[in-house]
Amino acid sequence: MNTELFDSTRWLIGAIARGLNVRHGDGIAGVLDRMAEQAIAHADFIEPEPRVLPVLRHLPQAIGETMLLDPDLAAAIAAVEEGLQWRQSSSYSDAILGEGFTANYGWAEIIGPRGFFKGDDFLLGLLMLGPDRHYRDHYHPAPELYWPLTSGSSWSRDSGAFAEMPQGATIWHPSMTMHATKTGPAPMLAVWSWTRDTGTPAKLREA
Ligand SMILES: [Fe+2]
Repeated sequence: MNTELFDSTRWLIGAIARGLNVRHGDGIAGVLDRMAEQAIAHADFIEPEPRVLPVLRHLPQAIGETMLLDPDLAAAIAAVEEGLQWRQSSSYSDAILGEGFTANYGWAEIIGPRGFFKGDDFLLGLLMLGPDRHYRDHYHPAPELYWPLTSGSSWSRDSGAFAEMPQGATIWHPSMTMHATKTGPAPMLAVWSWTRDTGTPAKLREA
């Protein structure tokens, strides 16, 4: 049992909860309620096999920017960084999402089957997208909250126009809502959560 990693993970979950608790967007209260229901005691701790991805070359810049928004959260992310298992959705490829996408995309679960606590039909994690990427229209049964910790990301719902959201904004996608994300010149680091119905992966809109 890696007590230091357990402590850092609990710190990170607490920092996310504290950060969300002072915000007032759609879906936040539901995410906090579901977070509070998760088993995150010592006995529940799992150490995932750490895994890195090419997109992590942008993580230092993104953590640096997060320092300006929430220094405690930025430090907590840095503290667990080496324990995270970064993954990609298996159906995603450069052929589908654009040349270089898979070198600029990855997510890691904090709570979830690949995270530090397995979660009860609940996922909490981090997403990274490199600069100038378009994570195009997709949908899933799980209701989803995004909390970008960096500036310059743009968001579309129901295939509508993209709107740039400020650093620290939250974006809520009800179940089966079509949504997409674009990045500008800077990489994006975001906290995300799926609050229920987590067994069905995201599906890209048919071209
Ligand atoms: Fe999504």
